[in-house]
Amino acid sequence: MGRIGNRDAEVQRAENATAPRIPNLYRRIGELFGPFRAQLLLTIVLVLASAGLGVLPPLLTQRAFDDGLFPPSGTPDVPVLMWLVGAMVALWVLSAALGVWQTYLTARVGNSVMGALRVRLFGHLQAMELGFFTRTKTGVIQSRLQNDVGGVASVLNNTVSSVVGNTVTVIAALVAMLLLSWQLTVVAVLLLPVLVLAQRRVGQVRARIATQTQESLSEMTAITQETLSVSGILLAKTFNRQPTEVARYSAENDRQVVLQVRQQMSGQWFFAIVGVFMSVVPAVVYLVAAWLILRDVPVTAGTIVAFTTVQARLMFPLMGLLRVALDLQTSRALFARIFEYLDLVPSITDAADARDVDPDRVGEVEFRDVTFRYPDAPADAPGTLQDVSFRIERGQYVAFVGPSGAGKTTVSYLVPRLYEASEGSVRFAGADVRELRHPSLIDHIGVVSQETYLFHATIAENLRYAKPDATDAELEAAARSANIHDTIVSFPDGYDTVVGERGYRLSGGEKQRVAIARVLLKDPPVLILDEATSALDTVSERIVQAALDEASRGRTTIAIAHRLSTVVDADVIHVVRAGRIVESGTHAELLGRDGEYATLFAQQLTGA
Ligand SMILES: Nc1ncnc2c1ncn2[C@@H]1O[C@H](COP(=O)(O)OP(=O)(O)O)[C@@H](O)[C@H]1O
Ligand SMILES: [Mg+2]
Repeated sequence: MGRIGNRDAEVQRAENATAPRIPNLYRRIGELFGPFRAQLLLTIVLVLASAGLGVLPPLLTQRAFDDGLFPPSGTPDVPVLMWLVGAMVALWVLSAALGVWQTYLTARVGNSVMGALRVRLFGHLQAMELGFFTRTKTGVIQSRLQNDVGGVASVLNNTVSSVVGNTVTVIAALVAMLLLSWQLTVVAVLLLPVLVLAQRRVGQVRARIATQTQESLSEMTAITQETLSVSGILLAKTFNRQPTEVARYSAENDRQVVLQVRQQMSGQWFFAIVGVFMSVVPAVVYLVAAWLILRDVPVTAGTIVAFTTVQARLMFPLMGLLRVALDLQTSRALFARIFEYLDLVPSITDAADARDVDPDRVGEVEFRDVTFRYPDAPADAPGTLQDVSFRIERGQYVAFVGPSGAGKTTVSYLVPRLYEASEGSVRFAGADVRELRHPSLIDHIGVVSQETYLFHATIAENLRYAKPDATDAELEAAARSANIHDTIVSFPDGYDTVVGERGYRLSGGEKQRVAIARVLLKDPPVLILDEATSALDTVSERIVQAALDEASRGRTTIAIAHRLSTVVDADVIHVVRAGRIVESGTHAELLGRDGEYATLFAQQLTGA
């Protein structure tokens, strides 16, 4: 129920979405083009050259009429006409060639800017802390990267080339018109300011619709991503929920269709009116010309023909520019969404004077009065961990046991600084983890988590994730230690077996053992095992446990265990309950104390 309510809230949010407010948006969009200054400059030179060329043909048209076809002598002057026609052809060929060059330059700039933006966003997201990903839907994140950057892409490409191309044509046409007759030009451009104002209004409406469309699109991506994954489809199938999922998708899709139509239709009336206006101008020009001639202003037939020809040519580029201005306003909304993500500040970053882990003290792990709340928890809530203190010496095997939800996994998150202590300090190799360079810290820690994650790749590739240059012999050694080598070679493709999405082609135990082999390949001095054997049956648990015992020799090991039988030999056992360490000691000591641990142990003996 809560989940359904949540979804309604999300849909509501999509409908009310407005573009995020980003100060200096245009300056920041401009800065994206910074690295391409030289190419943009060359483009502008080409534009100006084309503009200069574009002024000439209408003037040649005028001359063709007034000097070539209908000279004052009364008979057409063929040699003059030949020259004029030849010049026209040469000019058109030249400007066409310049046009292709321009398109190439602008397409390159547009795509490069967009590509760089995408990589920047991806890199920035990689730097975001774990908490960001646990509170944001994967699909929503993916959508910013794909749909929003993609949406800007088409605008960037079209914009640069069409602004450049159309500006040339419009400027050239206007100059030519002015040269032909300034009086007629004034008449032809009289209504332009009104159009520009109307266009701004249309643009605002469209930007709002664009934000809603993107928000709805991200919701659709999230649904796809959630339900078309292996786990999602498995859930839908086993609960017979496919029709519901289809209905959910279909509902969001309906919204998307409506929004897309609205977005495409916004401004259509505006353009229709602009079109009518532009078509009516020639007729008005004839009237005004008659009026001018009656007032003894010289207007020749050649001028009128040339003028109306140019004016007609003005229509398409002008419409194009208006459209681009509109697209730019739309893309403003998309850019705002992209910058909103780029402006997210990762909450866990290296200090300016962060240093590497001290190699002489690697293996020491200490919590000093650590209290921890998950970032989205209310500030006055009791901590997930409260006043947790312990010290692990180099090479010790330390176990954390306790009921589910006690906070054991949370302890394992704080050591590699995936989250930061709210109060107190977590120390690694004698230093507060906040003083260490994060990559250096991570290099010294290996984690086998409760939920193993494998890529959709071969077993060998998954293993080499830990050590890209590992030799085949090293892979095999690690796999043998994790007791998975024999299983792997029994597959028809051996180490080249593709494990499927998230490792679904492997059984839980096989997957876990591949994950253990992967961390053994990394060979870290500190090992964190979060219920690493919980997915295994008792027989293979014993074998893997033996492998883990072997692997933990000479390493500091933090073992979180559900089954107490796996930790009886630990140097120290901490019993965690409701975020606190309630008992500590060796197995024998804790049994002797006859407290929490003794109760848990007795329960497991009789229960299992
Ligand atoms: N990302 C999270 N955001 C908020 N609360 C969380 C998050 N992850 C875990 N919790 C809560 O923290 C508590 C401790 O969880 P965890 O450390 O996973 O327990 P354990 O591993 O001992 O079973 C649980 O109550 C759980 O609901
Ligand atoms: Mg856990």
